[in-house]
Amino acid sequence: MSSATACAQPNIALVKYWGKRDEKLILPATGSLSMTLDSFTTTTSVHVGEDADSFTLNGSPASLAATQRTTGFLELVRELAGDDRPAAVVSTNEAPTGAGLASSASGFAALALAASAAYGLDLDQPALSRLARRGSGSACRSIVPGFAVWHAGTDDASSYAEPVPAPDLRLVIVTIDGHQKAVSSRDAMRLTRDTSPFYDGWVSSTREVLDEMVIACRAGDVARIGELTELHALRMHAVIASSRPPVRYLAPASVSVLDTAEALRASGVQAWATADAGPNVCLLTTPGDADEVAAAVGGLGGVRVVAPGPGARLVSPELG
Ligand code: DP6
Repeated sequence: MSSATACAQPNIALVKYWGKRDEKLILPATGSLSMTLDSFTTTTSVHVGEDADSFTLNGSPASLAATQRTTGFLELVRELAGDDRPAAVVSTNEAPTGAGLASSASGFAALALAASAAYGLDLDQPALSRLARRGSGSACRSIVPGFAVWHAGTDDASSYAEPVPAPDLRLVIVTIDGHQKAVSSRDAMRLTRDTSPFYDGWVSSTREVLDEMVIACRAGDVARIGELTELHALRMHAVIASSRPPVRYLAPASVSVLDTAEALRASGVQAWATADAGPNVCLLTTPGDADEVAAAVGGLGGVRVVAPGPGARLVSPELG
């Protein structure tokens, strides 16, 4: 076949990925664990056999940087497929612009699946996850439905995500306009690794937290999952802030959401905070407490409750 369309959703890490041991292969310093969301779908079509590569995003030609990154990714797929024909990539993304909802994760997960199918490759889930990883590390987890653990691995073959059993949870996403100076996670990650005096401690403690988190997920221990989630997010923001020059992603309103989580817990409601490389905060909670948590943070930003969602999937052709 020469055309294929795939959908994927972003994921939010409960144990974060921050730091690479190999920038070319995107091998992370540690493993991580995430929940793939049921919302904010990216839909991507790849048409092989065009005159030149192109990338259309939400109806307009994408920026030069985004187009180059997409072409670089298509090169990997062409190499695997032994097919050097250029392709047109057409993508739409439901996540609101600037919402910080890891559009690179859903974007490269959808692209990995659509491009591999369009170039005639039939990849299983681990192989797709490895391929998506080459576009953006966190994308390897959006191949997997629900909760995913990304094994750090030691080489290309051993670094991929796979499902991990976990209890049913919700994330209350609080979208905050922080007017932050944007530092991409890719650049800030490198800066942290190269300049933070605490980086080695971050790496070794992340390994311990991940082991504990996998055990808590398998046991369905919601309170432990929540405690580890908030602990690990705060440690990530601490190590990022210890870079030189320092990078600070959380805004005053982000801290207010953290305060609200603490107050909710004091009143018996289950809510634990996490935040990626931006001011938005997600509160991890149970299906039963989600409405109360959403109401409590209503004044602090745009609020959306999301559930675990599907992994990347082909929508056309129906079968790969
Ligand atoms: C804070 O996956 O966007 O969201 O591999 O350089 O593309 P690259 O980085 P990316 O980083 C995600 C960082 C994070 C934590 C996480 O998702 O685990």
